[in-house]
Amino acid sequence: CHPETSANIAKPVVLNSKIAPWLYMFRSEDAVDFSQLTFDPRQKELIAGARNYLFRLQLEDLSLIQAVEWGCDEATKRSCYSKGKSKEECQNYIRVLLVGGNHLFTCGTNAFTPICTNRTLSNLTEIHDQISGMARCPYSPQHNSTALLTSSGELYAATAMDFPGRDPAIYRSLGALPPLRTAQYNSKWLNEPNFVSSYDIGNFTYFFFRENAVEHDCGKTVFSRAARVCKNDIGGKFVLEDTWTTFMKARLNCSRPGEIPFYYNELQSTFFLPELDLIYGIFTTNVNSIAASAVCVFNLSAITQAFNGPFKYQENSRSAWLPYPNPNPNFQCGTMDQGLYANLTERNLQDAQKFFLMHEVVQPVTPIPYFMEDNSRFSHVVVDVVQGKDMLFHIMYLATGKSAVLQSVVTDHEWVLGYAQHLK
Ligand SMILES: *[C@@H]1O[C@H](CO)[C@@H](O)[C@H](O)[C@H]1NC(C)=O
Ligand SMILES: *[C@@H]1O[C@H](CO)[C@@H](O)[C@H](O)[C@H]1NC(C)=O
Ligand SMILES: *[C@@H]1O[C@H](CO)[C@@H](O)[C@H](O)[C@H]1NC(C)=O
Ligand SMILES: *[C@@H]1O[C@H](CO)[C@@H](O)[C@H](O)[C@H]1NC(C)=O
Ligand SMILES: *[C@@H]1O[C@H](CO)[C@@H](O)[C@H](O)[C@H]1NC(C)=O
Ligand SMILES: *[C@@H]1O[C@H](CO)[C@@H](O)[C@H](O)[C@H]1NC(C)=O
Ligand SMILES: *[C@@H]1O[C@H](CO)[C@@H](O)[C@H](O)[C@H]1NC(C)=O
Repeated sequence: CHPETSANIAKPVVLNSKIAPWLYMFRSEDAVDFSQLTFDPRQKELIAGARNYLFRLQLEDLSLIQAVEWGCDEATKRSCYSKGKSKEECQNYIRVLLVGGNHLFTCGTNAFTPICTNRTLSNLTEIHDQISGMARCPYSPQHNSTALLTSSGELYAATAMDFPGRDPAIYRSLGALPPLRTAQYNSKWLNEPNFVSSYDIGNFTYFFFRENAVEHDCGKTVFSRAARVCKNDIGGKFVLEDTWTTFMKARLNCSRPGEIPFYYNELQSTFFLPELDLIYGIFTTNVNSIAASAVCVFNLSAITQAFNGPFKYQENSRSAWLPYPNPNPNFQCGTMDQGLYANLTERNLQDAQKFFLMHEVVQPVTPIPYFMEDNSRFSHVVVDVVQGKDMLFHIMYLATGKSAVLQSVVTDHEWVLGYAQHLK
């Protein structure tokens, strides 16, 4: 066990008042908890989910196009109160907001009775379909979740599946493929995870989260992870029935190098730049230790490399976690056109049951984080790539939970301040 040391790196800060002239703000009288944001396919509109409300805003100046109230009915609220939940909690917190073609698929906690609706994007009051939000949206507004829709219509959600939040899962539903999940009540698969983000990349869906580290036998520690499953996984037979056979996860390393590295163990937010295959992540220290944040950047090929390497395996609950050679080092998702779904995922089911934690840790593109700050806890990162005179600039927008927004331009070696954008 290493004691945590403190990072202390000077960097420019821009005050909110300085950037205020470049900010547009949208506010609505009763709407709080603006937690979800997305764009329409033409990138002309911003779709926002707040507590009990959906909004369509003009991207240019955040002027209101449509506001739709989506609250809970009285009976649902009464039932929520009767389970001991507060007035604050027994509301509809929007936690899933996904655009697919001309439709918006959105789910809310609905007073601990999650529901999902499928709406017309150009008129959000027009509801096509309403389905249960269980396994798609958390029950509690406190639980962190993520979801994505694939182009073929499958919904991948990573969320707590039950009322008390003891059953976390990565779950696939809707679409044409069978519903699948991570193994239930198995802390080796997922251990009190806080899901952060998910992406549909090539043959896989990727999930980013933080969780209690099962492999760490020296007190309770949280590690950040990248996990993936094959989109064409159809689950096992007899073994791993209705369960992923291609689930794998690896630790992400975001730390300040030194004799004893200083670890930013807890992933808070990610941003994916698909054209460069780069994942930006905001990492912080644990809430019970000194506050510090860092931005680390991961190359997708480094993540893939970790997944092709050895596994970490624990024979039984008292033995140590040891590296184990990867039985399938050039693992590919199977192909559909081999007739039946007989051997879709090319993975031995006994292996799939044992081997899902990678031995190798995913290292960032540069060993020193792109950005570090003490005494702060950033919660969001968004990145824009801008063509400069003779190079590309990656502009990072960082936000803290208290919606102080600061933006920096990172070139190879220096930071330049720019304007900022309101995030939350
Ligand atoms: C939403 O409804 C449209 C039209 O019925 C359908 O094409 C689409 O697949 C639905 N989306 C989801 C996620 O259910
Ligand atoms: C939006 O849909 C609702 C419900 O179907 C309908 O009553 C309303 O007229 C529509 N609004 C517009 C502007 O089309
Ligand atoms: C969800 O994430 C936020 C931000 O990191 C954290 O403050 C909160 O405690 C998390 N929720 C749960 C239930 O752990
Ligand atoms: C997806 O999987 C198929 C079958 O294994 C493979 O041929 C193809 O190259 C993969 N695609 C990508 C983008 O990796
Ligand atoms: C994380 O990165 C630091 C800095 O490069 C390195 O010193 C450390 O060994 C790495 N830790 C792990 C677990 O890979
Ligand atoms: C990402 O990895 C690929 C392949 O290893 C490499 O060609 C590329 O330069 C890397 N990108 C960055 C930004 O490090
Ligand atoms: C499925 O693929 C694996 C790995 O390629 C192979 O070892 C196994 O024999 C195959 N099973 C069937 C039923 O074809």
